[in-house]
Amino acid sequence: MNRRFVIERLIRKINAHTYLEIGVFKGYNFFPIRAPRKIAVDPYFKMKWYKKIWMHIKQPANIWESRFFEKESDRFFRENAEKVFAEKALQVSLVDGMHEYGYALRDVENCLQYLEEGGVIVMHDCNPVTPEHAGTFEEWKAARFTGKWNGDVWKSIVHLRSTRDDINVFVLDCDEGLGIITKGAPEKKLPYSPEQIRHMGYNDLEQNREALLNLKPANYFFDYFNIPN
Ligand SMILES: C[S@@+](CC[C@H](N)C(=O)[O-])C[C@H]1O[C@@H](n2cnc3c(N)ncnc32)[C@H](O)[C@@H]1O
Repeated sequence: MNRRFVIERLIRKINAHTYLEIGVFKGYNFFPIRAPRKIAVDPYFKMKWYKKIWMHIKQPANIWESRFFEKESDRFFRENAEKVFAEKALQVSLVDGMHEYGYALRDVENCLQYLEEGGVIVMHDCNPVTPEHAGTFEEWKAARFTGKWNGDVWKSIVHLRSTRDDINVFVLDCDEGLGIITKGAPEKKLPYSPEQIRHMGYNDLEQNREALLNLKPANYFFDYFNIPN
């Protein structure tokens, strides 16, 4: 099970019209996803030239529309989101942009502002399995971007689970850890302050992984959303 499978099943389940992907890279995940209205946000799209040309052609609205915002997600939410989601609210989103605590957290909190009741936010890279996977962007850069990098996105899961009473958050144990965020009462709240979370390190995650992430086996996805396996 991976993010594309989860997103496609969710879109089908809730009959979603609007899908947002933050962090698109070459579009390996974005392009094959089928939804009537898809929105892509990334400061540097890396797709092939013909996809870039297509990206700049105005798509017919309300049929199969894709919109591309070549900017950081913070800027997208400041400058465009209100208008984009006034037309139709957000229903399914993938948060997969900058893999740092603060960025990932802002992306989720911003998405929540526009998320329809019954909508779902999927977050990639929530379950790093070595300290190297969980390093900082500077460390990854110094290692010349080799290997998988999940960063400390996991801390935004801990933060959301500690601070919000209006969402339920868990992580599926597949595809580097898929965070799943829905509106509604939390299954179990955590007691940490943002200050405590800032000071947590990879060791804390390793010692308390299941509890911090509300880690679930991948198949839990089918039960939670009542989707046939
Ligand atoms: C891991 S890739 C995304 C992969 C893609 N979602 C997929 O599944 O194929 C991360 C992307 O996030 C983008 N990114 C970095 N900082 C960002 C930001 N502040 N806002 C949005 N995207 C960002 C990078 O340019 C990169 O293309």
